[in-house]
Amino acid sequence: MAESTITHGPFCPGPELAAWLAGGRDLLIDGAQVPSADGATFTTSDPATGRPLATVARAGSEDVDRAVRAAGAAFERWSRSPGNERERLLLRLADLVERDLEPLAELESLDTGKPFAAARDGDLPLVVELLRYFGGWATKLEGETLPTSDGEDMLVYTRPEPVGVVAAIVPWNFPLSQACFKLAPALAAGCTVVLKPAEQTPLTALWLADLILEAGFPPGVANVLTGFGEDAGAALVAHPGVRKVAFTGSVDVAREIARSCAADLKPASLELGGKSPNIVLADADVARAGRAAAEAIFYNAGQVCSAGSRLFVQREVFDELLEVVVAEARAMRLGHGLDATTTMGPLVSEAQRERVDGWVRRGVEQGATIATGGAQPGGALADGSFFEPTVLVDVADDHAVAREEIFGPVVVAQPFDDLDEVARRANAGDFGLAAGVWTNDLRSAHRLAAGLHTGTVWINSWNRWAAGVPWGGLKLSGYGRDNGRAGLEEYLERKVVWTSLV
Ligand code: NAI
Ligand code: MG
Repeated sequence: MAESTITHGPFCPGPELAAWLAGGRDLLIDGAQVPSADGATFTTSDPATGRPLATVARAGSEDVDRAVRAAGAAFERWSRSPGNERERLLLRLADLVERDLEPLAELESLDTGKPFAAARDGDLPLVVELLRYFGGWATKLEGETLPTSDGEDMLVYTRPEPVGVVAAIVPWNFPLSQACFKLAPALAAGCTVVLKPAEQTPLTALWLADLILEAGFPPGVANVLTGFGEDAGAALVAHPGVRKVAFTGSVDVAREIARSCAADLKPASLELGGKSPNIVLADADVARAGRAAAEAIFYNAGQVCSAGSRLFVQREVFDELLEVVVAEARAMRLGHGLDATTTMGPLVSEAQRERVDGWVRRGVEQGATIATGGAQPGGALADGSFFEPTVLVDVADDHAVAREEIFGPVVVAQPFDDLDEVARRANAGDFGLAAGVWTNDLRSAHRLAAGLHTGTVWINSWNRWAAGVPWGGLKLSGYGRDNGRAGLEEYLERKVVWTSLV
């Protein structure tokens, strides 16, 4: 495949990683690493510098067809394999990810722009946890015996059975952990998988492909197709051999996927975005809540489905809290992800930076005031897709920036007066992924937790995830759950068996 395009210099991959990147990165289909059928490739680049990182195979419909067929053939055996075989392989994969944690974190940092420490201490440990947690489930897939009502002598029991070939389509904000949100439960359940990472960030999925082979998974059980959404992604969703689509990404693409799935009534789980309300009550610890509110929006440069992008602050403490958030924003150090002093990287691509910039312009046109940020930094950062941490005030509820997902480091801060009012305003939005409540009053905390229409409510916390805790949304934030037992059930059917005992 094409030769490496890496430029050596500060904040470039180390020699080992550079050699891997230069190797030409192929698709993983049926246990073999192969170029795309038509030889197509694409380049992934470092968003902090705009420089190319590697050239990788670009899957087309022929590759999709081969991968789905391989997964279908592998399903015959894998779906009936003993749970402890699947557990052993998932635990082995977890160990290999742990062994390669540093190069994987470096790769994730280079491809997404996120700080290396965030990948090393956040994304990668979660990957290991997911593989181990779901590995454990493989030996605990139990059925039930059920009572009947007609008095006949019947034995009725359920059998958990894997749904079949899973198409896992994931985004670029947390590439490897999102991949494992789908891959780990699907494989544990006995499904086989075709994974398509986002075109902006294919690299860690390709390293994972190496580890899938090293771990010894049977051919076809886990396939990795790097490629674009409109061709490889769409072909994968539409393929009749796929029996379940597990997607994280944008609402627009989710609608296309749901429409495509409707043809065969194929089930899908759709984990989409949000405009998550973070609600600070006047009795909260204002300094702590302010720091956390900044972290809630600026973590991963705001490219988080649950970014705390709509900050509601009770009027008495609005100015005081805003001061903390603005100070935190100004203290962020923008830079290359491999620079140890960086606390916020660039956005994943120039397209994403332009999108975020467009939202801020639109907000200002509608009357918003920029309390801090609001522009692309110049100087040494001008070549990257950086955007300043931004706080917007003077925003009305019907303004676009108060309603739409910006997916960048931009928070809208609005005052409120009482609990019923803030719950009503928060619930009036189109999304329903997550919400936060900052208070020292138990009654207020749990009243709001009960009244907010979201999949998750964080009380005096934000952006907490764990392999064992279900994650997903309501309304335009999608349906279905990742993680926990609910996440596992997405990949299982419950067959019922009736046996007459007379
Ligand atoms: P996207 O939804 O286009 O991309 C997500 C994944 O879907 C990628 O793997 C992509 O290749 C694939 N895809 C795209 N079109 C497809 C199709 N027709 N059929 C099957 N797969 C397809 O997201 P994009 O364009 O990169 O980002 C746009 C916006 O989406 C962001 O600004 C943000 O608002 C939202 N988003 C939300 C994410 C979340 O975590 N919930 C993650 C990424 C984006
Ligand atoms: Mg797209």
